[in-house]
Amino acid sequence: MAHEWLDDACFYEIYPQSFCDSNSDGIGDLRGIIRKLDYILDVGCNAIWLNPVFDSPFVDAGYDVRDYYRIAPRYGTNEDMKRLFREAHRRDMHVLLDLVPGHTSADCKWFKESSKAEKNEYTDRYIWTDNIWSEPANKVKNITGYVRGGTERNGAAAVNFFSAQPALNYGFARTDEPWQQSVDDKGPRATREALKDIMRFWLDMGCDGFRVDMAMSLVKNDDDQSATIKLWQDFRDFLDREYPEAVMVSEWGEPDKSLAGGFHMDFLLHFGPSNYLDLFRVDNPYFSRDGKGDAAVFFEKYMRNKHLADKGDGLICIPSGNHDMVRLAHKLDMEEMKIVFAFLLSMPGVPFIYYGDEIGMNYLEGIKSVEGGYERTGSRSPMQWNHSTNAGFSTAPPEELYIMLDPSENRPNVEDELKEEDSLLSTVMELTRIRAEHPSLHNRSNFRLLHCEKNSYPLVYERSCDKEGSIVVVLNPSDKTVEMDFSLPENCKTIYTHGGSLKRGNGIIEVPGASANFILI
Ligand code: GLC
Ligand code: CA
Repeated sequence: MAHEWLDDACFYEIYPQSFCDSNSDGIGDLRGIIRKLDYILDVGCNAIWLNPVFDSPFVDAGYDVRDYYRIAPRYGTNEDMKRLFREAHRRDMHVLLDLVPGHTSADCKWFKESSKAEKNEYTDRYIWTDNIWSEPANKVKNITGYVRGGTERNGAAAVNFFSAQPALNYGFARTDEPWQQSVDDKGPRATREALKDIMRFWLDMGCDGFRVDMAMSLVKNDDDQSATIKLWQDFRDFLDREYPEAVMVSEWGEPDKSLAGGFHMDFLLHFGPSNYLDLFRVDNPYFSRDGKGDAAVFFEKYMRNKHLADKGDGLICIPSGNHDMVRLAHKLDMEEMKIVFAFLLSMPGVPFIYYGDEIGMNYLEGIKSVEGGYERTGSRSPMQWNHSTNAGFSTAPPEELYIMLDPSENRPNVEDELKEEDSLLSTVMELTRIRAEHPSLHNRSNFRLLHCEKNSYPLVYERSCDKEGSIVVVLNPSDKTVEMDFSLPENCKTIYTHGGSLKRGNGIIEVPGASANFILI
């Protein structure tokens, strides 16, 4: 199989503008990332998802692409990107770029051409109504608004997200208006081919695949999303033919659909029906010492999707966070996050660690919006490396940082946590090492839920594979000691323990509060 590296891949998501600034202009860049590749490896991650790095006016942090073929000058050059791929591959690491297929910046040449009154190659690249005064009578699924006025062309252009992000035209599953084209019309077909060309360009340069932005949004009026799924199957066929090694992960949040569309993996997200938020981000999250949370609904849905995913060899990824949601530290403290990582790094699927979560970076509530972040800005602050200027992120004068640093005095940093045996970072490093060493914990090894009752602790599951046998994972995020009916064989071995080990009695185990134990049977 071409994607064997996914079996033990562990991803690190880098928000490029906030990771490491190599030339003191106050903004992170590709050379900065290259400098930190060894750190990422030390954390235990062997793959990277890089948020958009393409030329952009940055109205939405680069999710508004102006030129798909050019690295944004503030991050470096295409040559730097090539070097990043090379340096990563030299270390046996893989790099996924962020592909934004649903929309471009309004500043993109395609959109400027498409806005002209005369017909040209780009006329049907976007979705235009046939009259500036008309908008469809009913709301169209996956169209968030219209750009109206300011164009020669007499029509309104559909928008995919913010108003500066006109929607690319992949057609409509159901056409209700004369200006709505169907998926197989010439315009939508040309958009599809344009996207394939973009993929070819970066894959030829050394990129290993893509995280696909808003993958569920492409075909409009597609109520059950079957046309969007079909569209992605076409992209999958193209990749299988020309780039069988390329790996695709979707921002979709519904693995039953995305994996059917041919994605290798999908994320559980802060939106969508997965109940992912129940774990770490609701008012009483399951992974809090308060012990008032519930993970049962989450697991009910997870098991259903897992069953479907397994049939197609797909992977469900449970990320620590991402650039769109509040950080783990918003609701949880360092101790609680250690149990979170014991969970994230013992579940099947490919783990994704959002930069800074491994040191427990704070969510900066209420800070001023930067580059269309709004409340997301608080999860996008500069990485904290050490105690030097700007926490080691940049040597620019502090007032020149493009986004503010966590101002708290005791903000965590990499240097301190590396020295401390019991820090969150050291815990994450130990957990990634244990995951790598034990085939039963690898991404595709078996998973069996053993105990997850409504509003109750502990959470117990088994990971196994033929090579190694099974590992029972017992997690008790609550601060109370709990008991459960469970027999562990005499000759089992604890391979990870945090917060106290299990006590065994007659067919019962006693699980200390705030503890995580992995038992090899
Ligand atoms: C995705 C991205 C988000 C962006 C949006 C529009 O949800 O993760 O950051 O703003 O799409 O592209
Ligand atoms: Ca820089």
